Amino acid sequence: MKIAIMGAMPEEVAPILEKLGEYKTTKYADNEYYEATYKGVDIVVAYSKIGKVFSTLTATTMIEHFNCDRLLFSGVAGGINPSLKIGDLIVATKLSQHDLDITAFGHPMGFVPGGSVFVEADKDLIALSKDVAKELGKTVKEGIIATGDQFVHDEKVKQTIVKHFNADALEMEGGSVAVVCKSLNVPFFILRAISDTADTDASFSFDEFMESSAIISAEFIMKMIDRVVE
Ligand code: ADE
Repeated sequence: MKIAIMGAMPEEVAPILEKLGEYKTTKYADNEYYEATYKGVDIVVAYSKIGKVFSTLTATTMIEHFNCDRLLFSGVAGGINPSLKIGDLIVATKLSQHDLDITAFGHPMGFVPGGSVFVEADKDLIALSKDVAKELGKTVKEGIIATGDQFVHDEKVKQTIVKHFNADALEMEGGSVAVVCKSLNVPFFILRAISDTADTDASFSFDEFMESSAIISAEFIMKMIDRVVE
């Protein structure tokens, strides 16, 4: 077993590296990969940089170059479902690309031939997250995450994403990581803690809460890792 733990930004992986302790840094494909052994299991950590292209590159590298055989993503998201408050955790049941648009040819938003509107996350890892949440007495919402190459800070854009995907939260990497993992047959899990609600105040809220929400997500991921390596 070799586990990939990904984030998009340094703040999203810093608490994970802290918990892992010692690690080896390897430069590859214009990024850094941090290799550690945790409780006897090999782990590779990286932050991809923001967006679908960088996250695709990092997820592919972790699987194809570093030979990871499962992938867990930890980070922050904009909440859409009004039940989600700052700091709340959401586990993706399935993910879509909200900015993938060939509707001009009669296809639904998020669809291209050969692909699918949604990619489902690994059911066993989702079940494990439920167990861990129960153990910790934490509420973790399961829902749909929509991914696109834009920081959403507009009520109308948010509502359009709800209309097409019935999404509960949005971010900028999960949907592309999902496509990579599904294509390469690697079980994956995407966890996000809410940093903002993707409305006009989103950038201020993000600046204020990104770090604390990233820690909430990373701590939960490490509790899951503790169970995976048992
Ligand atoms: N990640 C966190 N908040 C976000 C937002 N409002 N839009 C896109 N990605 C995000």
